[in-house]
Amino acid sequence: MYMAIDIGISEDDRKSIVDGLSHLLSDTYVLYLKTHNFHWNVTGPMFNTLHLMFEGQYNELALAVDAIAERIRALGFPAPGTYSTYAKLSSIKEEPGVPAAEEMIKQLIDGQEAVVRTARSLFPLLDKVSDEPSADLLTQRMQVHEKTAWMLRSLLAQ
Ligand SMILES: [Fe+2]
Repeated sequence: MYMAIDIGISEDDRKSIVDGLSHLLSDTYVLYLKTHNFHWNVTGPMFNTLHLMFEGQYNELALAVDAIAERIRALGFPAPGTYSTYAKLSSIKEEPGVPAAEEMIKQLIDGQEAVVRTARSLFPLLDKVSDEPSADLLTQRMQVHEKTAWMLRSLLAQ
């Protein structure tokens, strides 16, 4: 038996939030794959540091996509789960080649900050409809991404 969702947020507003969360999920998934790719392919004198650092980051991102997708489901809509959708919705571009280590670090800083911007852009809507669970999730995601961007940026300091 079907029961309509009745959590105090209209279907239209839930759909708008899901559209934003789908962008966030796509950004996070593309960044996950890029970070895993760089874990495999990084070379140079910083190999061990970066190989291990990127591993920690992609493992964290793999958990994050699950949390974002399940929030979408709780709001009553399907979670996107295909590479073609992620490529369409993500604000992060794929890297087709194998860049040098420093370029990898720069691209991951860009990616971490792109996810933060996508998350931050959702807050006016979340605040308007008091979607505190989504705001809580996004707050946690922004904390992780801003901290990771700082750590990556610190590698570039002279
Ligand atoms: Fe590995």
